[in-house]
Amino acid sequence: MKIAILPGDGIGTEIMAEAVKVMAVLDLPFETETALVGGAAYEAHGHPLPESTLNLARAADAVLFGAVGDWKYDKLDRPLRPEQAILGLRKHLGLFANLRPAICYPQLTAASSLKPELVAGLDILIIRELTGDIYFGQPRGRRVAVDGHFPGAEEAFDTMRYSKPEIERIAHVAFQAARRRNKKLTSVDKANVLETFQFWKDVVTEVHAQYPDVALDHMYVDNAAMQLVKAPKSFDVVVTGNMFGDILSDEAAMLTGSIGMLPSASLDKANKGLYEPSHGSAPDIAGKGVANPLATILSLAMMLRYTLNQAEAAVRIESAVDAVLSAGLRTGDIWSEGMQRVGTREMGDAVVAALSGRVAGKTTTPITQA
Ligand code: IPM
Ligand code: MG
Repeated sequence: MKIAILPGDGIGTEIMAEAVKVMAVLDLPFETETALVGGAAYEAHGHPLPESTLNLARAADAVLFGAVGDWKYDKLDRPLRPEQAILGLRKHLGLFANLRPAICYPQLTAASSLKPELVAGLDILIIRELTGDIYFGQPRGRRVAVDGHFPGAEEAFDTMRYSKPEIERIAHVAFQAARRRNKKLTSVDKANVLETFQFWKDVVTEVHAQYPDVALDHMYVDNAAMQLVKAPKSFDVVVTGNMFGDILSDEAAMLTGSIGMLPSASLDKANKGLYEPSHGSAPDIAGKGVANPLATILSLAMMLRYTLNQAEAAVRIESAVDAVLSAGLRTGDIWSEGMQRVGTREMGDAVVAALSGRVAGKTTTPITQA
């Protein structure tokens, strides 16, 4: 199992080091190769996604990705900015299906900004289409307006578009995920205003005919944003486009109070994929050894489950994380009164210890991951 390790920028290198430690104690035939990506790659090679890094990602069975970005690159031309690395990997590897679970760990209910009863037991899965929509739609650019409210003025434009096969394939991923869970899918659109999302709704409805056992409902994105904070547990699997998914998945992550806990998977049509924590590079705390490595460690678990067919190892990791939380260990982002505050490395060490059965504290039933 060849794994490309792309730590990236900011806290990326620190959290990745802990995930690599976890890999090492799993007793699986991993072969890893590490490469630069994002701002780190720009510094060394003049490009955020050098050819060598892309080739490594292509050749690997799976990619474990840290995070990219730093304010200091905000002034670079867009194609040279760190974010282009992740967008490029998604595009070049055909990673169209982004799975973002939002799970509220019972031990962490107090970390949410919502009332405990609203989020206790929350376990939803956001499925975001990842290679289409306004993110990649052409044409885009700047020009002098020839029409509109201010002809002759400078303007900028992007294009929102989805083809039928693009919607069909993400709909299939979503219906199949719903089938493995509670057979309930919400498709989020803006069909009341946008042609693209009326089409989205029509195509998802058409695909639904092949999944009569799954209950499908449709919701406008503004209402979905509202319902997510009003009654988050009314959702199970949510499927939506690239841009709405970007926004709603951050909102959903914050319901759990701990974006530092949430893994994600970006899969291609053969379930090959890139796995990354849902959080960013957090340059404000980089290098301080305080970042939470658990989202990256849980991303490794997702990789084992989805791409490497090692579900048992995935459960072992998830149970180890659960044990560590039950033992009261907390990085700053999830710390609350009475808990033991630890740094990045101590948290990683604790997971490694739990994997070898060396952590005190009761082990609760592991959370079902997506
Ligand atoms: C995400 C991020 C990216 C996105 C950025 C870094 C390009 O916000 O993975 O959600 O917008 O997709
Ligand atoms: Mg985002």
